Amino acid sequence: MRGRHIFFATCAPGIEPVLHAEAKALRLAKLERQVGGVRFEGTMEDAWRANLWLRTAVRVLLRLERFEALDENALYERVKAFDWAGFVGPEGTFVVDAQTRDSELNHSRYIEQRVKDAVADRFRERTGVRPSVDRTDPDLRIHVHIFRNRATLSVDTSGDSLHKRGWRRHQGRAPLAETLAAAIVRFSRWDGRAPLVDPFCGSGTILVEAALIAANSAPGLFRQQFGFERWPGHEPAAFARAKDAARALERVPGKLQIVGSDVDPARIEEARENVAAAGLEGRIELQEADARDFAPRPGWNAWIVTNPPYGERVGAVARLVPVYQRFGERVRTGCGGYHLALLSGEETLARALGIAPDERVALVNGALECELLLAAVP
Ligand SMILES: C[S@@+](CC[C@H](N)C(=O)[O-])C[C@H]1O[C@@H](n2cnc3c(N)ncnc32)[C@H](O)[C@@H]1O
Repeated sequence: MRGRHIFFATCAPGIEPVLHAEAKALRLAKLERQVGGVRFEGTMEDAWRANLWLRTAVRVLLRLERFEALDENALYERVKAFDWAGFVGPEGTFVVDAQTRDSELNHSRYIEQRVKDAVADRFRERTGVRPSVDRTDPDLRIHVHIFRNRATLSVDTSGDSLHKRGWRRHQGRAPLAETLAAAIVRFSRWDGRAPLVDPFCGSGTILVEAALIAANSAPGLFRQQFGFERWPGHEPAAFARAKDAARALERVPGKLQIVGSDVDPARIEEARENVAAAGLEGRIELQEADARDFAPRPGWNAWIVTNPPYGERVGAVARLVPVYQRFGERVRTGCGGYHLALLSGEETLARALGIAPDERVALVNGALECELLLAAVP
């Protein structure tokens, strides 16, 4: 995969500004923020760096072609004409994922089928053998995006979603995606030096992602494999050097305090194992505690970055109102000078805090629309 290419790093809705800032810090060229992600240009080495370093991206797509696809034949012929040999072998596996909007071709499942046929037919005609479809663990993921009859054909350089870092051992009850946790830490404008506290820490996602940010640790170094590692032309030795270069940039801060607590002892045990799996033992303090008793430590000027329960089950919101009220009161009366970043999935509960946010950021947690409330505590 020599030469320069166009890439698109995707992210969950609302995260584009922080993904753009991350991509800029990586010095990715010709950066453009778009809905759903950022576009950039570069070499395959740049795509490696993007996969290793972008904490808030879900996947990095490599654009192959863009063309008019008014009907299924136009789509089929263009896909069949493409030389797929650099991405999958005849004995390999692949999957196609299509999205379409405002176009003549308006059935994404059908588009997937035709693209799959085109790839398979090309191989069969040339080699007599064809790669087969594997939906769970394919060697290659092909993306087709059609908007107003313009098709963009891409391959996924990441493979599995980048939120699957590789450090997680336990899910907890309702874990944040690692990409969303990293985005929340970024949105909070934490400086990486002040103490960071999560009083509803669950499985510890925010704490781990914050510690990785503070140490400038590339999140992709935990991964077993990226999509491009299964492409026939992949250069493992060069990629191993890119990983070594990323590792060399790690700087473990001396006295940083990152502290998590949860009322449920089982969650603390799980968080402990996640922290250990991320190689962060001794760098994150965990304790069983009720957020209603949240007490600032003397001299702290901390960032509270947290994701309390939303109470999706019937009756649970009413039960949680007093928790939010008490926690909010603790923060208002004892945490002057602190910064608060709280992911809220329920307006009644957010109001119960009694803290007027300086800023609200609309985000999506799984399928749930949420707001990140940002406040400097007076
Ligand atoms: C939405 S989950 C947090 C998930 C976490 N961000 C993660 O990624 O795993 C909310 C957590 O708040 C905890 N919790 C509920 N009530 C609490 C309270 N009064 N004090 C402290 N923690 C509480 C729950 O045990 C649960 O782990």
